[in-house]
Amino acid sequence: MPTQQRKPFAMAPDGVDPHSVPHRVLYTGARLPAIGLGTFGSDHVPAHEVAGAVREAAAAGYRHFDCAAVYGNEAAIGQVLQEIMAGGVPREELWITSKLWNDKHGAEDVIPACRQSLADLQLDYLDLYLVHWPFPNHHAPAVDVHARDSRAQPYIHEQYMQTWRQMEKLVDLGLVRHIGTSNMTIPKLRLLLRDARIKPAANQMELHPHFQQPELFDFARANGIEPIAYSPIGSPARPERDRTPADTVDIEDPVIVKIAARLGVHPAVVCIKWAVQRGQTPIPFSTKRRNILANLQATVSAPLTDTEMAEIAGIDRNCRLIKGQVFLWKAGQSWEDLWDVNGEITPP
Ligand SMILES: NC(=O)c1ccc[n+]([C@@H]2O[C@H](COP(=O)([O-])OP(=O)(O)OC[C@H]3O[C@@H](n4cnc5c(N)ncnc54)[C@H](OP(=O)(O)O)[C@@H]3O)[C@@H](O)[C@H]2O)c1
Repeated sequence: MPTQQRKPFAMAPDGVDPHSVPHRVLYTGARLPAIGLGTFGSDHVPAHEVAGAVREAAAAGYRHFDCAAVYGNEAAIGQVLQEIMAGGVPREELWITSKLWNDKHGAEDVIPACRQSLADLQLDYLDLYLVHWPFPNHHAPAVDVHARDSRAQPYIHEQYMQTWRQMEKLVDLGLVRHIGTSNMTIPKLRLLLRDARIKPAANQMELHPHFQQPELFDFARANGIEPIAYSPIGSPARPERDRTPADTVDIEDPVIVKIAARLGVHPAVVCIKWAVQRGQTPIPFSTKRRNILANLQATVSAPLTDTEMAEIAGIDRNCRLIKGQVFLWKAGQSWEDLWDVNGEITPP
């Protein structure tokens, strides 16, 4: 676009200065904004609405966006990213993550899948590219929890390393700056750390007050892996397939509600404040300007008190919401088998 036609990208007058938003320093020295906008529309928010949320968020001061090929909206988001950069926000100020979907783990599929995300997002490089799940699988997006793919496979470390070698090649090619994992467990990460030439810079994992995963959180940080917190508010609009009667609701917890009342904010904002203050990087999803802004403001306003942090530490319910049933690979298994709850990788 000729320069004279470019519309400067306008910051909202009530937005937050992106330079005042806290950052994490990754093992490479790169600076990751300590909050990002999630872009998974939970199967019911259309691509153009999510792209609109990215525009609102950038105007509010967000610079970190969490994308994935399987969310089906990277092309729409790419148009908005172009608009933002053409309007004067430098590429280096943005942090864009994308993820390799489960049917692209094959050695010949990884680089083309990344190139497709880059083309859709209209970018020359990604800041972070994650293996979305450690299980190769071909199930269609939005299938019911009882759906099983006849080709589903357990975690096989040698196969994962074949995928990881291609991830490393993406760094060598300059197509991605960092690589990382998602939905991993300690035993799986131990093997990866042992065998990786390029270490994972981040692990995206479910983290919210009712699901704090203290061991995995500590393990990640001790090994220089940034814990990126998905579903940080407890994913109140998650699809039906990800709901069970035993699930608890973070934003209705009396401790969260009490702190929200003290601060005069929505309980969701307390979840975000707790996340950033604890040391994880939350990526809340929202399409509402008010909520997008409130979540960002939560990162720069006065911190929770030590007592409040301790109270929230005490409400962990070990309540995993995104259980991953569709990845089970044989009859008679329960979703716990995916998460190595006994400290060992569940045998095939
Ligand atoms: N790696 C993985 O496997 C994985 C899995 C799940 C999610 N993710 C990523 O994590 C992101 C976030 O997770 P999520 O979408 O499951 O759940 P979430 O961020 O915990 O919850 C999003 C919901 O909270 C509401 N909300 C957000 N801010 C609010 C506020 N200030 N006040 C009141 N309500 C608020 C939103 O509604 P409104 O739109 O009405 O504001 C939306 O319905 C996803 O978008 C995706 O990028 C990754």
